[in-house]
Amino acid sequence: MKDTAVIIMAAGKGKRMKSNLPKVLHNLAGKPILNYVLETIDQLNANRKIIVVGYKSEKIKELIGDEIEYAEQVEQLGTAHAVLQTKKLLSDFKGEVLILSGDVPFLTINTLKGLLKYHKDNKFSCTLISTILENPHGYGRIIRDKEGEIEGIIEEVELPEDKKGINEINTGIYCFNKESLFQTLEKIVPDNKQGEYYLTDTVEILLKDGLNIGNIMVKDYSEVLGINTRVDLANASQKVYQRVRKHLMLQGVTIIDPNSTFIDEGIEIGEDTVIYPFTIIEKDSKIGKGCHIGPYSHLIDARIGKGVKVWASTIEDSSIEEGANIGPYAHLRPGTIIKKGAKIGNFVEVKKTVVGEASKASHLTYLGDAVIGKRVNIGAGTITCNYDGKKKNRTIIEDEVFVGSNNSLVAPVKLGKASYTGAGSTITEDVPPGNLAIARSKQKNIKGWSKRKKKSKK
Ligand code: UD1
Ligand code: CA
Repeated sequence: MKDTAVIIMAAGKGKRMKSNLPKVLHNLAGKPILNYVLETIDQLNANRKIIVVGYKSEKIKELIGDEIEYAEQVEQLGTAHAVLQTKKLLSDFKGEVLILSGDVPFLTINTLKGLLKYHKDNKFSCTLISTILENPHGYGRIIRDKEGEIEGIIEEVELPEDKKGINEINTGIYCFNKESLFQTLEKIVPDNKQGEYYLTDTVEILLKDGLNIGNIMVKDYSEVLGINTRVDLANASQKVYQRVRKHLMLQGVTIIDPNSTFIDEGIEIGEDTVIYPFTIIEKDSKIGKGCHIGPYSHLIDARIGKGVKVWASTIEDSSIEEGANIGPYAHLRPGTIIKKGAKIGNFVEVKKTVVGEASKASHLTYLGDAVIGKRVNIGAGTITCNYDGKKKNRTIIEDEVFVGSNNSLVAPVKLGKASYTGAGSTITEDVPPGNLAIARSKQKNIKGWSKRKKKSKK
């Protein structure tokens, strides 16, 4: 849409969040609040998109990048002042301006398109979205005359006693004709309790100037809820998680206890996968069909194939292929690849390591910076000593190797194909294919020792 500009107000600190982080960057079920708004307006094909930034603007710019324009509001003097900061950027622009808040994440594209169309069709100078709230506390209220025509908007703090009962609220989402918008903004004065330039004052001024105001009332108020406090944030998160779980269940995923399961939006999970209670699945994770995930599992950027079992384990930025078995109490750290049918068992930590097809590390092991072939058995208590205090070194374990229990594999080191190591070995040199390496001191048995000990005690 060539004649449409979108302004997102996001300069405020978000005082009510009581936080160091700008409000719009707070995490809402896996991504910053602001990203929800940006993803919605991406579907609008507006030719100008501007974010008004102020408080910690560098943090916002760093996250969003330069796909969007920025207007700096150095001092946060109010919403009208925020919009005014885009004046220069929009000096050559002609058309309609949509104004959104960075803290209203669930606005849908349909509502936005509806707003724009209604506004244009009727040639309004401003069209605003309102809704009815059971508890309107905190919002600006829509004031109507006897005929039901909009007269103005009064902010919560300015609201006289007799108007506190009004439950039609201003959602903070508007469409303005650009010329009327900027002409009006210049006329706004901060003569209110907060000493702020209120964008909501535009309504009264436009009406005084004899211009028309339009209004759309959305039925589903949850679409236009603003996030002001951490309580709002938690409620909004629950809403997203609920929506995601419902979607996945309808796609054929069993979620045993929806209330204790948290899955970020956009994560794909295959049919007949069962998610057990107390499981969190985050970021760019993807899970195949017929898996069993949880209970008590935490997956972050985990890519999981078909028929995989993950039980009470943590997986970060790792791939697990078909039929592999993980846990309980395993920790797969970034850069790990577990191939088809492999097994990573109790209390095993794996980092930046490839574990080949059908290989097993079933108990109490650390595998770091290693490449492990097929059908390898890693005995209980094996440790790759990958760090020499300066750099990380590789361990290579070829196909069909049998590593005895309680081995220290001092990297860099290579265990050749089908070689064996004795239990308790400290392997410091390469083992040629097919060899048995025993690297421990030889056992000495001392005859009659216990009898002698007893005697000497007497
Ligand atoms: C605003 C509206 C209120 C409406 C509510 C809906 C005004 C005066 N009030 O109130 O009628 O019911 O939204 O959610 O507009 N911001 C800036 N610069 C500033 C001040 C704010 O960029 O100087 C940004 C904030 O970062 C935020 C948005 O504008 O993203 C809204 O500001 P906020 O302080 O949350 O306004 P509300 O009090 O919620
Ligand atoms: Ca707000």
